[in-house]
Order: sequence, then C-alpha cells, then structure tokens
Amino acid sequence: MQTIPTSDLDLFTDRALSDPYPLHRELRDLGPVVELTAHGVYALARYRQVREAAADWRAFSSAQGVMMNDRINSALQGITLCSDPPEHTRMRQVLGRPLRPERLRELVPRIEREARHLVGRLVGQGSFDATTELARHLPLTVVSELVGLGDAGRAHMLEWANATFDAQGPMNRRTVEAFPKLDEMVAFALREARPGTLDPAGWAAELYTAAERGDLPVEQCPFMVIDYIAPSLDTTIYAISSAVHLFATHPEQWAVLRADPSLLPHAVNEVLRLESPIQRFTRVVTEDHEIEGCTLPAGSRVMLLYGAANRDGRKYPDPDRFDVRRRPSDHLAFGRGEHACPGLGLARIEMQAVLAALLPLVGRFELLAAAPVLNNVLRGWASCRVRVHPAKD
Ligand code: HEM
Repeated sequence: MQTIPTSDLDLFTDRALSDPYPLHRELRDLGPVVELTAHGVYALARYRQVREAAADWRAFSSAQGVMMNDRINSALQGITLCSDPPEHTRMRQVLGRPLRPERLRELVPRIEREARHLVGRLVGQGSFDATTELARHLPLTVVSELVGLGDAGRAHMLEWANATFDAQGPMNRRTVEAFPKLDEMVAFALREARPGTLDPAGWAAELYTAAERGDLPVEQCPFMVIDYIAPSLDTTIYAISSAVHLFATHPEQWAVLRADPSLLPHAVNEVLRLESPIQRFTRVVTEDHEIEGCTLPAGSRVMLLYGAANRDGRKYPDPDRFDVRRRPSDHLAFGRGEHACPGLGLARIEMQAVLAALLPLVGRFELLAAAPVLNNVLRGWASCRVRVHPAKD
C-alpha cells in the first residue's frame, strides 16, 4: 500500500488561474493521485488516471455533483451532468437528440455563412478582440437561438453560464460572488423555461415534448434546460479565442495550416488539448478504490484535472509545444465515458467554421494584448486583441 502524497497548492488563486500549467506539472510529478490539503479533495493530474476515472462511473460517481462545494452540488441536483445511470442514460438520450450528427449537418451551411460574414467584417477592420468580437458571435447568436429561451432568457445566457462555472469552485470569493447569478438562472429555469415562453421549435421545448411522451419526468425539464445553457457558450468561446491566441503566438503554425488546410480538424484538437476550456470537474468515490497502490477512501471527492491530463508528457511527447501536425484526437478536453460532451460536434463545427473563414484572409496575426479569464473552472482569454496582416497569396 502506497501513501498518497499531499500538496498544499491552491489551484484557485488568481495566479494559479492565470497560469495553471506549472502547478499541474508539480501535481503530475508528485504521483498518480495527490491529496490537496487546501481543498480537502484528491486530484488526478496524469492522463491515464483521469481517462480511467472519467470512464468508470460506477467507481467515480457524478450523482453527488461534480463541483467543489455543497451549495452548488445541491442547487444543480437533477441536471444531466450531475447524475449516474440509469437516470443519466434516460436524460442523456433526450438531451443529445438535437446534437446528433444528422441534426447538426443541417446547421453547417448557416454556421459557415455567419462565420464568413463576421470574419470578413472583422478582418476589414484590421484589428479586433478575438474573444469579445470574434468568438462570442456564433455561440451567442446561433446556439442561443437554437436553445430557444426567448428574449428574456437569451439576454442573460452569457452571464449565467459564466457564473455557473465560477460558482463551482471551493468556497472562495469568486464562488460566493457568483451565487446570485446562479440562483437567478435556476429561478428563471423553474419559472419561465416552460412551454408557452419557450420557442416551440427550440431544443428546450423538445425536452417538454419528450416528457409528454413519457421519456422523462416533466419536473426534470427545467434542470435540463440548464444543461444546454451552462456548457454551450463560454467553452466554445474560449476555445475559439485560444485558437487565435495560439496562432498569434506561433505564426509558423498558422503558416503550416494555411499551406495544408486539411490539418484543420487536427489543429482544433491541438488547441483543445493545450488550452482545455474546462479545466476540471470532480467525482465522488463510491467505494474504496485503488490507483497504483494508493487507496482512495469511499466517499472522498476527487478532482479530474482534464487540463493537466492533456499536457501529460507520459502521453504526449513535448506536451507544452503547439503543433498542428500532432493528431491528439484522444485528448480529454471533452471528458470521456458516459458524461463525455454531447456538444462536441457542435463545438467543432463552430471552431472550424471560424478558422476556415480566417485561413484565406489572414496571412499572420499579431498579438496586441491579452488578459486571461479568471474563472474557477474555465480557461481562456477574457480579451485577446489582435491585428491581422492580410494574406498576400
Ligand atoms: C469547446 C467546447 C466544449 C468543451 C471543451 C466542453 C467540455 C465538456 C466536458 C469536459 C464535459 C464532461 C463533463 C464531465 O466529465 O462530467 C462536457 C459535458 C457536457 N457538455 Fe460540453 N463542452 C463544450 C461544448 C458544449 C456544447 C456546445 C454543448 C451544448 C450545445 C455542451 C453540452 C454539454 C452537456 C449537456 C454536458 C453534460 C453531459 C453529461 O453529463 O452526460 N458542451 N462538456
């Protein structure tokens, strides 16, 4: 039996959130499991262990919530993200319907058109903010319309989504300050995300139709609306602006991609691997569980550090290097197993549409200024100003 190494690192300070990677390296090097004394949880930071835990819902349960504090774990009880089979399977079948490939295919022409239009305008400006002006557009227009919350809900989606992630931290200032917005979103979902207010053609309304058919209990529907609001915006927004940031700081990689646009899907995976928009979720261990001779006690909370696993040198050689020729399709930015992201197809379509629209127009990005987002779960750039040098070919 091995003793589990301990660490007093706090992963939630401003400094840690601005640059988590040195801390992640330290945790990976300490062992396959580390006890984080500052947060009273265990952490998995290596690729193999994170992947295995994410794929094993019986040992690593989501039903007691996947966040770091009891208040949000109980506020969001009933969402798909915080459930185990068989409830999870039932909800997921309904939730995933509009996100199936055949439904997404119908959306591609519109998303590509929107992306080309927006990119053409911004490139014409000469400089722009890759987060606020470029990356927000598709998730905020197309996706929020698809969810179909009506004007009142749509106007708040972005701030609610951001707060939902912030409120997932340990009980620090950021977490506490996010609770009023989270409460607002839950109250909205319970009060107004209902047939009559919802766009009858939207994804949220589809949940109620499924409930009428008997596919799920109707009281579950408002919570499942949250499953659509919370994870579909900032994640994709930060993924798109991280891509621009990485290409601005690695112009040779942009040149490689421009020379061979067939690398685009791999480039998207490489961006998600290096700058995973969701850095971590947690699980609760259902019974004593052994990892490489270390026993995790039943009932303990374990952090799955997706962002750290994706930079594990045991899995990816030279892991901090951005290389669009790498083909890291097995990265963990979308999780793994039962809870693996059902929106990954849509996220990829949005990312690829924006980059594909930029490829013929931009010869090089020049980074003017960037500020990291400080959020208890999310990783990305709150702002990322770039100047674009038009393509000459
Ligand atoms: C780049 C963008 C995205 C990233 C990085 C991302 C990441 C993730 C991750 C890591 C999980 C796993 C949760 C866990 O392990 O407990 C997840 C779940 C989920 N995501 Fe995404 N996501 C993205 C975009 C989206 C979009 C666009 C949607 C919806 C339209 C979406 C909806 C969901 C839902 C509903 C779940 C919960 C699934 C379940 O518990 O079965 N995500 N996402």
